[in-house]
Amino acid sequence: MTFFEHCDLDQRFTLSKSSWTPRGQYALVFDFDQRRAIKLYMNEDTSDEDVVFKIMAKFVDSGAIRSDSVWIQVSPDGNELIDQGSEVEEDYTMIPCYWTRDQFPPALPSVRRSDLVELDRLGLQVDRVAYDIPEGHTKEATFKYLVYENNIGAFWEEVNCIIGMHARGTHPNIVSFDRLVTETVKGVEKIVGFTTDFIPGGTLDDSKTRLFKLKYLHQLIEVIDFLNLELGVVHGDVLSWNLLIDERTDNILLFDFNSAFPLGEKPEISDVDLVVVAMFDVITRSLGDVFDGESPYEIDGVQLLAADLWEKDPEVNLDADVSEFLRVLKAWVERRKAAEEDPETEEVARNPVEWPEIPDPPLVDCSGVMEPRESEMRQRLIMAGQPYMAWQRPSSHDLSLPENKGKVLLATGEFV
Ligand SMILES: Nc1ncnc2c1ncn2[C@@H]1O[C@H](COP(=O)(O)OP(=O)(O)O)[C@@H](O)[C@H]1O
Ligand SMILES: [Mg+2]
Repeated sequence: MTFFEHCDLDQRFTLSKSSWTPRGQYALVFDFDQRRAIKLYMNEDTSDEDVVFKIMAKFVDSGAIRSDSVWIQVSPDGNELIDQGSEVEEDYTMIPCYWTRDQFPPALPSVRRSDLVELDRLGLQVDRVAYDIPEGHTKEATFKYLVYENNIGAFWEEVNCIIGMHARGTHPNIVSFDRLVTETVKGVEKIVGFTTDFIPGGTLDDSKTRLFKLKYLHQLIEVIDFLNLELGVVHGDVLSWNLLIDERTDNILLFDFNSAFPLGEKPEISDVDLVVVAMFDVITRSLGDVFDGESPYEIDGVQLLAADLWEKDPEVNLDADVSEFLRVLKAWVERRKAAEEDPETEEVARNPVEWPEIPDPPLVDCSGVMEPRESEMRQRLIMAGQPYMAWQRPSSHDLSLPENKGKVLLATGEFV
């Protein structure tokens, strides 16, 4: 079962635009499962995400939408698929203007996207993949890629933060960078994503009964101090869904630098507070209930530690008393908070990782005028007879169809 078969519909789909044309009211929807944009026409208000996403899921997963369709028309009650088409003028797919290989450090290893085989879909723009390495071996990796145009800026920050940390060497509690992923378009090598080592076993969020050891907390504290105070990186999302336990080494591992930023840039977000929240989540499994509707990024760690709420969930397994976890956490939080507030010991990273600002976007032909753009319309490339990066793939639902059995799905979206 892939991520898309059990996630919420508003995770799988994004409504990027709701507008009106002579054909009627439409919603432009991006499906992260199929990696494809579809215009949904219905003679009704198309701004309600719940309604739109339910309709999309129904028609995508029943196989009613042809793979080349760029729009569908449904009845006003959403029950019937009335029409669909693939006219290029109706194609509102956007393609990011990928960075070129020479915008990244030359020594980094790389792998071509067409050499990656999709094994599983782990999240939005994140797959588990495999590729061949010398001596007849294959390597499993996590492939994090850029396909959705609104993620361009965040993706630049993430990949460059990871590359910058990688240049400092590996850390036993940080998931390692593996390779850049490339694709050549019109003779130019582009960067479409990167791989990291794949760690089997799932995140801390995935399993509440797996033993959580006090040593993992010690490791987490150590790696956060190293990240913040040595490398000058704030992870910004240290929560149970971004922590793994590597069963081979019995280490806790931090991953997902999608929200990372240089120390000092966003004083309102602190990894120290987030570690307290993550431990509260791991021990009590009541984060969602206690802080219903509240953002975990705004919870004050000191207050939470002082609160009388740390009751272990009966199914959670720890190798020490909750009081021992709290003692370790409190001592650390006090030390870090005191350092933060003392102007004498103001937190400055010893050896900060620095990464380049996002490059100026390339010039793109916009109705005959060249303008700087981060992404471009696929229809223009098609009309101009130019090649483009294709990402569309079958929906998770279609992977198990009899005609697809025994085939291999490449990271390009192609079945072979
Ligand atoms: N290196 C890895 N090993 C194992 N699973 C991973 C790894 N990286 C990501 N995952 C899985 O993929 C999911 C999405 O990856 P993540 O980097 O957290 O992306 P996002 O930025 O969308 O949160 C994670 O929640 C986790 O289940
Ligand atoms: Mg994540």
